[in-house]
Amino acid sequence: MPTKKVKKAVIPAAGLGTRFLPATKALAKEMLPIVDKPTIQFIVEEALKSGIEDILVVTGKSKRSIEDHFDSNFELEYNLKVKKKNDLLKLVDETTGINLHFIRQSHPRGLGDAVLQAKAFVGNEPFMVMLGDDLMDINDNSIPLTQQLINDYEKTHASTIAVMPVPHEEVSAYGVIAPQGEGIDGLYSVETFVEKPSPDQAPSDLAIIGRYLLTPEIFGILENQAPGAGDEIQLTDAIDTLNKTQRVFAREFSGQRFDVGDKFGYMKTSIEYGLNHPQVKDDLKQYIIDLGKKLSGTSDN
Ligand code: G1P
Repeated sequence: MPTKKVKKAVIPAAGLGTRFLPATKALAKEMLPIVDKPTIQFIVEEALKSGIEDILVVTGKSKRSIEDHFDSNFELEYNLKVKKKNDLLKLVDETTGINLHFIRQSHPRGLGDAVLQAKAFVGNEPFMVMLGDDLMDINDNSIPLTQQLINDYEKTHASTIAVMPVPHEEVSAYGVIAPQGEGIDGLYSVETFVEKPSPDQAPSDLAIIGRYLLTPEIFGILENQAPGAGDEIQLTDAIDTLNKTQRVFAREFSGQRFDVGDKFGYMKTSIEYGLNHPQVKDDLKQYIIDLGKKLSGTSDN
């Protein structure tokens, strides 16, 4: 049987974004910019670079701005054209013409439930789940993590979940895997997937990092999934069940991951991206050098 191509991705974006209140009172947290680009645009770009053709965004309240961002804006485009602001026009162009679809999750009941909303969109195909809080390799041109998972799938025909080592005391913020033996070239067979274990019960320090390539059999499991950690329907629990009937692999990511889901992670990401941004990198670098001197008490002024 020929392998089905991975052409669809699901981006869950129904969270309330409470960590960024009051900024997220009226604005979707996925629209918070890293310098000048909304975080969700990084995710969409990673998907497109990896050959994904259709993307479903599972939204909740206050998410109109996401739909508008990826829609054409005639007035803005017309004005930029008249003023011959071609560079800006190009940036605006990059956000349109993408096959984006939207569905509302009216009562957010957890990540597993958000993914279940994609059942009809996905049909009987393998697909990606891409979490908006995790940005990967935003400053280099290495093979996108989504593409790496697709490459694995083309060899194994199996679901593959991206993982990365995290400091042991942080495991309880993640889904964690119990790997079966040593990985081969970064690809692990997995014994169990555990959502948010306490550090003393975590089977390893390999944490799930927000990119999942899943076979459609996950939906039947999600439909019957009981609430787990935090009393939410957990995707990790459904993946653990899937792994009992068909193999699920874990791919260790060796690039750079940026967690924009908390304030400090968001600030670090903005600085790292700014240090590579043509318009601000020189000024930002100088500013950080001067600030370092000031904070360490070696500044002249
Ligand atoms: C979710 C998943 C968790 C995963 C994490 C990655 O948790 O449930 O398994 O490790 O994303 O960012 P959340 O961050 O939504 O609590």
